Amino acid sequence: MNHLPPPEPGAALRVVEDKAPPSPGMNLFGIPSGEVLTSDPSRLARLWEGAGQGSRPGVGRMNTVSTLNVVHERQTPEYWDAMYAKGYRVPDPTPFERQMFRNYAAVKSGQRVVDVGCGQGRMAAHMATWGLTVRAFDFSGVAIEHARASHQDHGDLLTFARHDFNADAIPGALEPGSVNIMVCRHSLEFLDLPRFLTDARRWLIRSGVLHITTHRAELMPPTAPHRGLTGRQIEVLRPGWQFMTTYGLDGSGSLIGIVLRGPC
Ligand SMILES: C[S@@+](CC[C@H](N)C(=O)[O-])C[C@H]1O[C@@H](n2cnc3c(N)ncnc32)[C@H](O)[C@@H]1O
Repeated sequence: MNHLPPPEPGAALRVVEDKAPPSPGMNLFGIPSGEVLTSDPSRLARLWEGAGQGSRPGVGRMNTVSTLNVVHERQTPEYWDAMYAKGYRVPDPTPFERQMFRNYAAVKSGQRVVDVGCGQGRMAAHMATWGLTVRAFDFSGVAIEHARASHQDHGDLLTFARHDFNADAIPGALEPGSVNIMVCRHSLEFLDLPRFLTDARRWLIRSGVLHITTHRAELMPPTAPHRGLTGRQIEVLRPGWQFMTTYGLDGSGSLIGIVLRGPC
């Protein structure tokens, strides 16, 4: 049974098949792997379903036989390629947003960061200027081409690659316990949350941080194409972390940062 919300009129749907589980390989940062953290994908799937988003049968399960899933238009690279080709641009991170991120994520030079759904790479480039080693991924080829062309001055500190966090096998180079900070700037709402949270907790070190920037859906106009996360979806993020903090990024409280620290 498919629990996804019905598509909007005219929305394109894509049917995808689960891919094979990841194969072991080189650490993304060329560093020995750390400890594997526990995770419970079935519990997350139940919680996410309870938050009204519906489950994604098959997606995120390891060692499954091939399972069909229906994917909403906004969860396809074609949608985002077309958006970027038309000139879509997410507002740049302001100096205030960047400062709050640095404080709340406790950023230190030399840390290893994965930018999830990096778009055109502006936040990733800022992080590289702070001395972080950033591996930035997006499933839109148009976004990745733009990001590569725009941010060429950071050497090994910054790389961009195409990757679909919902449908692709985990990059062989992304090893358990190897990442200090995972960044989801306006991208978490498009991900298969049970799968992604399970993966993120596995990739992070014990004191690692998942940092999310999002709008609060209830405070956004109903017509906005990307409305962020509902309060209930934000609550669902809490289990499985030692600490959760949220902070405001604008006067209305509609733009917030969420810090999940210490996967457990
Ligand atoms: C609203 S944009 C935010 C882009 C960027 N983080 C920023 O702040 O400018 C959402 C991004 O998530 C990417 N995205 C959505 N689903 C994805 C997935 N399953 N895997 C990888 N990237 C994804 C889209 O291609 C898009 O670039």
